[in-house]
Amino acid sequence: MRSVVVTGGAGYVGSVITSQLLFGGWAVTVLDTLAGSGESLLGFAGHQKFRLVAADVRDERVLRTVCAGASAVVHLAAVVGETACAADEANARSINEGGTRAVLSAADAAGVRRFVMISTCSNYGVSSPDVLADEDAPLRPLGTYAASKVLAEQMALAHTGRLLTCGLRLGTICGLSPHMRFDLLINDMARAAVLGDAIDIFAPDAWRPFLHICDAARAVEWALQAPEDVVARQVFNVVGENYQKKQLIDLVRAHYPDASIRITPGVPDARDYRVAGDRIRECGGFSPAHTIDAAFTEVAEAVRAGVFRDPRWAGHSAAPAVWR
Ligand SMILES: NC(=O)c1ccc[n+]([C@@H]2O[C@H](COP(=O)([O-])OP(=O)(O)OC[C@H]3O[C@@H](n4cnc5c(N)ncnc54)[C@H](O)[C@@H]3O)[C@@H](O)[C@H]2O)c1
Repeated sequence: MRSVVVTGGAGYVGSVITSQLLFGGWAVTVLDTLAGSGESLLGFAGHQKFRLVAADVRDERVLRTVCAGASAVVHLAAVVGETACAADEANARSINEGGTRAVLSAADAAGVRRFVMISTCSNYGVSSPDVLADEDAPLRPLGTYAASKVLAEQMALAHTGRLLTCGLRLGTICGLSPHMRFDLLINDMARAAVLGDAIDIFAPDAWRPFLHICDAARAVEWALQAPEDVVARQVFNVVGENYQKKQLIDLVRAHYPDASIRITPGVPDARDYRVAGDRIRECGGFSPAHTIDAAFTEVAEAVRAGVFRDPRWAGHSAAPAVWR
């Protein structure tokens, strides 16, 4: 039976991946501390192929149990984003780096065949303004989050055991999830446009790659099933569309012409990178199927329809304690 452990499977991206894999016929074990709650998984309660283990990825005893009999691991568990990592850098390093080391070692010892490391395009930090960054472009992590993700990715790709490892560098995710995050740019803009809040665009000339959350989940399923010689020790950018931040104004105004948008030249986030998704398309035949405009519209519609009790709730963030 195809059986996969999804670490961080209760989170914003992980809960959508869990759903994609369960519906794709995989047996899924989610390993998550549920630090941001586990309500995102309630829809799977009673599903015969779903199991939740509420524990820390650094717990070796638990790892031995959950990895036993699994054919694959998708590793997402992390402290996510520079804001959350800056709140406690040592803890972030311990989870993002030490956690990855522990999961790799346990998966290998248990005879797991495939390991998909969920990495990030934030690893690029600042890319050349003239060329799209491909997977061989230099990595220039700008803070603890990106630095720890670079290290974790390198650890996974350099792993020499029976375990076949690969990495997916996801663009900034957008779209709906049962564990909703509104601290991500497109989601935040959609929420603000509906609620009539001002939208602040910092560093308007900076570029950013975006990816619809459903395409992130599709890419993971692809990585689990692609031929071994295509994915082994390879890293792939997964990108929907690159946008210059000031171009997002048109995206918002196409739907909300009266939205209040303020351009602020100050740079609280110095990231500026445009990323190429050619390798996964050419080597693996994978292409994103959803637009960023669709993600914006879906989120805005959900907020407008009243899906979220309080869209401004601080818990809709990867760093609830320090957000807003
Ligand atoms: N959201 C994005 O735009 C984006 C972009 C690129 C890559 N990623 C990567 O995707 C992954 C998930 O990001 P997200 O946006 O869903 O964040 P998230 O904060 O919503 O999810 C992280 C999950 O990991 C769990 N977790 C944290 N520490 C843990 C530990 N020690 N043991 C077990 N579980 C633990 C949390 O409880 C949470 O459910 C991360 O690896 C992140 O680097 C996210």
